Amino acid sequence: MRQAWADWAARALGVTTELDEISPTIGSKEIVAWLPTILGLNDAHVVAIPELAYPTYAVGAQMVKARVVTYVTADEIPDNATLIWVNSPSNPTGQVQTVSQLQDIVARARAIGAVVVSDECYIELGWEVTPVSILHPDVIGESNQSVLAVHSLSKRSNLAGYRSGAVLGDRQVIADIITLRKHAGMLLASPIQAATMAALTDADHVASQRDVYHNRRVVLRAALTQAGFEIDHSQAGLYLWVTRGIGCFETVSMLADVGILCAPGDFYGQAGQKHVRLALTATDERVNQVASRLAQLPA
Ligand SMILES: Cc1ncc(COP(=O)(O)O)c(C=O)c1O
Repeated sequence: MRQAWADWAARALGVTTELDEISPTIGSKEIVAWLPTILGLNDAHVVAIPELAYPTYAVGAQMVKARVVTYVTADEIPDNATLIWVNSPSNPTGQVQTVSQLQDIVARARAIGAVVVSDECYIELGWEVTPVSILHPDVIGESNQSVLAVHSLSKRSNLAGYRSGAVLGDRQVIADIITLRKHAGMLLASPIQAATMAALTDADHVASQRDVYHNRRVVLRAALTQAGFEIDHSQAGLYLWVTRGIGCFETVSMLADVGILCAPGDFYGQAGQKHVRLALTATDERVNQVASRLAQLPA
């Protein structure tokens, strides 16, 4: 299975990885939540997470009582950070970090002696840009020292229920991760390993699944724009990050009145106060219904 991850990383990301630089994980959420524990962090440590972020980065830090700080650009990451999370493409914004932004974050991590981990579970779902892995040689040069990337079958293969992912990168950090996980019983059942190998060696289902999301995205984007929403970022991933310039709960309530469910932006951080997140994961029929309901919104 690790060879299948290595072959996939070479093919899909242009990243070369040896087998001792890969640890399978039980989906990506599990490693996101447990990495601070696995790395031995505690209340003396600082974990840096993006200003707008998937909540589990903070949850993982809270599990070890580490302090969470947020950042937008690399220079805002404090000197005392031990672990830095990147999420590109981002949930909730769909923003993609450029090679130069990733280089800055890696340089900052190395300068302060932190480990940097990029959660790249949406990396094969680029729409307006092609996301680059933090482990790509254009970003890290010749060495993956202090750098990890987290991947998952949940989004690319639509296999969230199978709970299969992997963390790749710096072999010294991976060795610690493997040792601890092995003794903690965080292992994948063999049928899931077989399914993982099958999914990673096939690109056709990824292309079909992408088409499904792409079509929903076209429908939703047009309907949202028509209804007076501004769509920010959203270049990749499974979400549209939108605003009408009013408070997120006002928008949640307005959309709920016409039977549309969305996520309030401040769920992901203060900076999301005026945004809501719509997902491309509802069925085609429901997405079409959402489009016609958006047309009923008061101006
Ligand atoms: C940014 C991000 N990371 C990780 C996950 C977890 O996914 P999984 O554990 O299914 O791989 C999600 C799920 O929505 C996510 O949005």
